[in-house]
Amino acid sequence: MKNREIRLKQNPAGVPKDSDFELVETELQAPSEGEVLVRNHYMSVDPYMRGRISKGASYADNWKPGEAMRGGCVGVVVESNAAKLRAGDFVVGEKGWRDYYVTRPEKVRVVDAEAAPVSTHLGVLGMPGMTAYVGLMKLAAAHAGQTVFVSAAAGAVGSLVCQLARDAGCRVIGSAGSPEKVAWLTNRARVDFAMNYRESSNLVADLKTAAPDGIDIYFDNVGTDHLEAALENMAMHGQIVCCGMISSYNATEAPAAPRNLSHIVWKRLRLQGFIVSDHWEHYDTFISEVAPRVRDGRIAYEETVVEALENAPRAFIDLFSGSNLGKMVVKIA
Ligand SMILES: NC(=O)c1ccc[n+]([C@@H]2O[C@H](COP(=O)([O-])OP(=O)(O)OC[C@H]3O[C@@H](n4cnc5c(N)ncnc54)[C@H](OP(=O)(O)O)[C@@H]3O)[C@@H](O)[C@H]2O)c1
Repeated sequence: MKNREIRLKQNPAGVPKDSDFELVETELQAPSEGEVLVRNHYMSVDPYMRGRISKGASYADNWKPGEAMRGGCVGVVVESNAAKLRAGDFVVGEKGWRDYYVTRPEKVRVVDAEAAPVSTHLGVLGMPGMTAYVGLMKLAAAHAGQTVFVSAAAGAVGSLVCQLARDAGCRVIGSAGSPEKVAWLTNRARVDFAMNYRESSNLVADLKTAAPDGIDIYFDNVGTDHLEAALENMAMHGQIVCCGMISSYNATEAPAAPRNLSHIVWKRLRLQGFIVSDHWEHYDTFISEVAPRVRDGRIAYEETVVEALENAPRAFIDLFSGSNLGKMVVKIA
């Protein structure tokens, strides 16, 4: 049967361009014994993919020009030759950026399409949600009375970090890049202080106003200027959870900031980087703690839905200019 997939055409230089990708029609073989055919409904675009399409080193293998892109997706089994899956089952897999794929049951995870919209398994109940939960609750062990600062706070990971911190009894400060995002953080995520970093002439001073007694936990999604401003404002014995550094993913030169790493010593700080895939043992606890709160509306979430597979490269590129509120997904079918 005919299939379509998006391939990397060339390694991007700086911010990726549409022309770095191409849509290709392919032939797909029918599933063999023990395999299933899945029709993708939604696929995820994520900042980590920028590292994968670079030539340079990162924490995982690079994807090469000519190869199909990969990543989280949710779809329905349309044909099954495997006892463990039936036609009609919804599954989360790693073969996004294409209409259909053939796989084996052990490579996908069945999700309950009745309990929550299936797209949430790419966002608040999926990998980004797990990232927020593991980083804040397991690694930083956030607790009542602490002041937590979150950057990229209205995105997929950040929006849940803010609300988990709020529900844990923390004072929450969120930074994001537009007035709409600041309004969402204030009204829907109900953080204590939201700021638009694009309008800030002095991030250090603005953070000082927001956290006069210092920051106990900085959940860093951005790096560079945000990390520098947080370091300047950390409380003694504070923790920095290094989740991502999106501000430097497209950099063609080494970033100028942070220039104040001495604060790590002076304030006896603890910095911990992590990759969510190392912590999947917490998945069941995460779902049991977070899914009921999402279902009954205590945790708010947003999705920015881009229509059609051919627009996936643009959706991915737009992550770097902040056009998404909450999780950016592409609706394929
Ligand atoms: N460690 C892990 O296992 C793991 C797992 C998932 C994600 N992450 C990391 O977590 C971070 C957030 O990921 P996500 O999936 O939740 O993405 P996201 O926040 O939904 O989308 C990215 C957001 O980053 C902000 N941004 C882009 N360029 C920026 C810049 N130069 N300065 C400040 N903000 C910028 C934009 O929001 P604004 O409008 O606010 O600028 C954009 O909407 C990323 O760094 C990602 O790599 C890490």
